[in-house]
Amino acid sequence: MLKVDLIIRNAAQLVTCAAGGKVKRGAEMRNVGGVAGGALAISDGTILGVGKSDEIAEHYQSERVIDASGKVVCPAFVDPHTHIVYAGDRLDEFELKIKGADYLEILENGGGIISTVQQTREADLNGLIEQSRRRLDKMLAHGTGTAEIKTGYGLNTETELKMLKAVAELDQTHHIDIVPTFLPAHTFPPEYKGVQSPKSKAQSCPDDYVDLICDEMLPKAIEWFVNSHFCTKQTHQAPPTAHQFFADVFCEKNAFNLEQSGRVLKTAKRLGYKLKAHVDEFTNLGGARLAIELGATSIDHLDQISDEEIKLLAASETIGIVTPTVNFNFGATHFADARKMIDANCAIAVSTDYNPGSAPCPSQALAMAIACRYQKLLPSETLNAVTINAAFAVGLGATVGSLEVGKRADVLILDTDDYRHLAYEFGGNFVQSIIKKGKIVI
Ligand code: NIG
Ligand code: FE
Repeated sequence: MLKVDLIIRNAAQLVTCAAGGKVKRGAEMRNVGGVAGGALAISDGTILGVGKSDEIAEHYQSERVIDASGKVVCPAFVDPHTHIVYAGDRLDEFELKIKGADYLEILENGGGIISTVQQTREADLNGLIEQSRRRLDKMLAHGTGTAEIKTGYGLNTETELKMLKAVAELDQTHHIDIVPTFLPAHTFPPEYKGVQSPKSKAQSCPDDYVDLICDEMLPKAIEWFVNSHFCTKQTHQAPPTAHQFFADVFCEKNAFNLEQSGRVLKTAKRLGYKLKAHVDEFTNLGGARLAIELGATSIDHLDQISDEEIKLLAASETIGIVTPTVNFNFGATHFADARKMIDANCAIAVSTDYNPGSAPCPSQALAMAIACRYQKLLPSETLNAVTINAAFAVGLGATVGSLEVGKRADVLILDTDDYRHLAYEFGGNFVQSIIKKGKIVI
């Protein structure tokens, strides 16, 4: 009989999302690995046993036992695409959009992302951290245990590095584990919007900003990462977060064209980054093919992806991340066809894309609810999409996202006896307890 730190037993449904070390694709996404009357044994922040309650009782004992009768026990959510480090809000733009303004037009006229860039440049580091911490608190309360966070509201070296410092401080001081993504290629900053005349170099143009990203920003950020706690921390408890640092690009009309996106992604790859790319949110510029061919870990949004690119995605290791909260937020009727992608054997993850412009939403459960209704996914598919597949989409498929022996004990106890309620009901919150690295944090 092994003594452990914590046993959770008698769950109405223990939903493991177990994947055996591989991302789930196609029909596998409908299997959530449910165990009726299930239990977990946890020590040192790691899952030691998973099974029926009587099997766990045969092998493990603990002074700390949670009786989960009538409840669902499932993995904490992973949110694989967010932009939650920023200052201020975009309430004025929200009202403009209600009155009919278009997201890309607002951006072209110096608003949108650029308005958040101005507010983020002006914010001091502590203010930025505290505003962002409140967003992480909400994500945690809604069940997220691990989140990717992108930079991209600095668009100069100094502010992009300030954003990375905020991300690092939050990772060290918040229960949510963070995977950082460097996104200086979010849009062009106002100081690089000029049209370069062939005679004078007086005005900096977009291609000069691409030069700055490739020659200065990407090298400085990876140097920062290598010397940050992300690479130097050693945890004795639970599997440590792997050393992942992603670079991302917004390949879109009024943002980075295909050639510019290619330069950024290829430079990043050469410097040792893993890759992600925002593609096909509004316009198909060919970014999906480019990113898949470069071996991107994920391609995100996919609203305009072609059938041919869906085939490429299905045949690749790249994971498609869809962001149904964005379409919902825009009041759009068109959504990325995640149904078609799963039926074509793609591996799909779902994110909130929590950000001030296109998706001010902290809840993965709400993203699941929207994906079921507008993308025609089943609750089982959405649960795998916000847990195990989302974990693979941030490079942590071996560490989090499922309840399997050896994984980090990031667990939710839900106040319902059927996990499908997560997607069926919307606007509420079924999360009753969150266990992070074996400790009850909510
Ligand atoms: O994923 N599309 C680009 N980036 C974000 C939006 C950022 C913003 O509007 O502030 C997105 O939708
Ligand atoms: Fe995004």
